[in-house]
Amino acid sequence: MSRSVKSRSRMDPIQMPMVAVVGDLIRKHPGTISLGQGVVHYGPPAAALDAARAALANPNAHAYGDDAGCPELLEVIEDKLRRDNGIECRNGSAAIVTAGANMAFAHAVFAITEPGDEVILPVPFYFNHEMAIEMAGCRAVRVATDDRYQLDVDAIRRAITPCTRAIVTVTPNNPTGAVYPEPALRAVNQICADRGLYHISDEVYEYFTYGSTRHASPGAFAGASAHTISLFSLSKAYGFAGWRIGYMVYPEALADAVMKVQDTILVCAPVVSQIAGIAAMQVGPAHCREHLTALAGVRDIVIAELRSLEPLCTVPPADGAFYCFVRVDADVDPLQLTERLIREHRVAVIPGHAFGVTSGCSFRVAYGALQKETVAEGIGRLVRGLRSILS
Ligand SMILES: Cc1ncc(COP(=O)(O)O)c(C=O)c1O
Repeated sequence: MSRSVKSRSRMDPIQMPMVAVVGDLIRKHPGTISLGQGVVHYGPPAAALDAARAALANPNAHAYGDDAGCPELLEVIEDKLRRDNGIECRNGSAAIVTAGANMAFAHAVFAITEPGDEVILPVPFYFNHEMAIEMAGCRAVRVATDDRYQLDVDAIRRAITPCTRAIVTVTPNNPTGAVYPEPALRAVNQICADRGLYHISDEVYEYFTYGSTRHASPGAFAGASAHTISLFSLSKAYGFAGWRIGYMVYPEALADAVMKVQDTILVCAPVVSQIAGIAAMQVGPAHCREHLTALAGVRDIVIAELRSLEPLCTVPPADGAFYCFVRVDADVDPLQLTERLIREHRVAVIPGHAFGVTSGCSFRVAYGALQKETVAEGIGRLVRGLRSILS
């Protein structure tokens, strides 16, 4: 007689990725414009596609590569880190190529924690970060940001316990679009130095800042290399999301731990993608800057339209990435609001509770996939929908 398999697992308490839940709703309502997923509307540079095509004839592209990444890609990454981030890789840190920055984050958590440890996440957070922390058997400690979604450094300090292992910052931020000023990042990095914690710095939107706002990399601060883990990605800047290439700079002392995780979970990032990645990074951030002016125009329209809903909705400053995080001044359930926007107005957003915001009603708008031609329709539906549902 056969016995049924055990159905419980460590995944049971982990939240479902909300982008997938909303994606399902979108599929059931054809014609919906998605302001849900954090993607850009453009693809990789032509040189990257040419390099990928040429790589197919190279037998090495079909074999396992080095765990840390193709040496040529690592060289390009080190040059870029020095040039764009002020991070010196040979200064007590090392770089590794992963299948995207999500994997890099999970690698970092596995490498630095034991089950039961705590990792501090400013709220709203990027949901995959909380999910990875919980999958590793650790606790995500949520710390509120201020009403402009900026870091509350004192609150972060107060949240530290003997179990804390790391503080996470994401700047430019997903889901809020907030960009943390350098002094706030320095303060967090110094707390980590003083308290023997890691600073995990997610910088996948490093090139996406608007106006005079500038991105700062904590890994460049003096003395930071011993406790700073910096995460980067080709997904956004190079329209590379499907190619799955990201990289992580980590303190050399973690080399063995990181290599154990990498070798077990990935072995090496897809070699053809790495070869395409070399060509993309040789084109450099010019590829993304080419699209950034248009994106800035889209952002202006999105923010102006949403601000026309004040005081019903509040849109704090969003000077980076391609998100804004809207607070709704009404007693509505964020998931129900999202469902009604999709069902009745054919426009999708992501409800705020997916990002750890448990009080009030809020939602994230992602505008990276919009272009000048589609923004009016997408945001128009959202504004009309909100007016009709909330009035
Ligand atoms: C803050 C943040 N980190 C990491 C990622 C994932 O990047 P990747 O595609 O490199 O895994 C995303 C994607 O949306 C993100 O918003």
